[in-house]
Amino acid sequence: MNVPLLDLKAQHRTIRDEVVAKVMEVVDAQLFILGQPVQDLEAKLAELCRVKHAVGVASGTDALLLPLKALDLRPGDEVVTVPFTFFATAGAIHNAGAKPVFVDIEADTYNMDPDALEAAITKRTRAIMPVHLFGQMAAMERILAVAARHGIPVIEDAAQAIGARRRVDGAWRMAGELGAATGFSFFPSKNLGGWGDSGAVVATDERIATRVRRLRVHGGLQTYFHDEVGTNSRLDALQAAVLLAKLPHLAAWSAARRANAERYTQGLAGVPAVRTPVTDPANEHIYNQYVLSVDRRDDLQAHLKAHGIGTAVYYPLALHLQPCFAYLGYGKGAFPVSEAATARVLALPVFPELSQAQQEHVVDAVRSFYGD
Ligand SMILES: Cc1ncc(COP(=O)(O)O)c(C=O)c1O
Repeated sequence: MNVPLLDLKAQHRTIRDEVVAKVMEVVDAQLFILGQPVQDLEAKLAELCRVKHAVGVASGTDALLLPLKALDLRPGDEVVTVPFTFFATAGAIHNAGAKPVFVDIEADTYNMDPDALEAAITKRTRAIMPVHLFGQMAAMERILAVAARHGIPVIEDAAQAIGARRRVDGAWRMAGELGAATGFSFFPSKNLGGWGDSGAVVATDERIATRVRRLRVHGGLQTYFHDEVGTNSRLDALQAAVLLAKLPHLAAWSAARRANAERYTQGLAGVPAVRTPVTDPANEHIYNQYVLSVDRRDDLQAHLKAHGIGTAVYYPLALHLQPCFAYLGYGKGAFPVSEAATARVLALPVFPELSQAQQEHVVDAVRSFYGD
């Protein structure tokens, strides 16, 4: 049996006509740059995240870069983030002109360890960028408390976490609702994926939202007049049309991922070499990825491949050990929890359309590897 890590065709079959109809509206109008679909999507995203401002941009990477640029960072300024994340998180900090400063993660959730945060803050810290990794939110209330003590903003990397939420003081808070600004990615593999690259910034901070809106069109809201140097990071109207058609399905897709995750977690219970994902009890996870922590990870991955099962390692090398960040001066052992995770993580297929038979095949293959 074949079980790909992600089967976008299975989802596409269920919504093809709706999405194509929305796309054809744009094609027939021949209005491809910004316009109504982008505005409509921005309004829907602001509503979902319960914030005032949303700005569509060209990618999730730009959705982190542009809010950071809006902070007017100067050489030597620091932004604190985690080393166990996709490269874009720290890449955006570097490209915005600041120095990435890392703090380690919690061993169970893989998210920023709030206990490690305070010690990383210096007089040069200009922002904190937690990542809601794999689809569950970082401990925002504790991170925000540290940020408030130092008077610095929190910019959320919610690229993997659209629609995720967390209970804070007894009330549900959405990914994007609590930070000054938040970046989302609509890369095709995300829970809400476009037909190509696209992203969005949502913001509670009006000043950042206004700057991002300007930065995405070369720094000038009036064509040919430029208040600052920005770039072209417009969200494509065709992508906005795809995302608008898909958005009404997002909650059901994420619920299906949660149900799949629950089935795996039950199926894999009691295998000593396997730790299934841990959800912080305050969180509702959207499982952009279902990530095991296992012994003999590479051998298990090869075994699953031989059984037709697609898996992936997110991420095999922590960012403080990447050659491009050698200049930061961190060595091996600087962030032991992150480094341990890179050797043990393995993502299983968890896409919403996964069948029960496919899941049983995966569970059986994992169990058989460990001699169960
Ligand atoms: C945690 C994280 N940050 C940022 C990004 C960047 O998003 P994009 O690939 O849309 O530029 C991604 C996407 O892969 C991500 O997973």
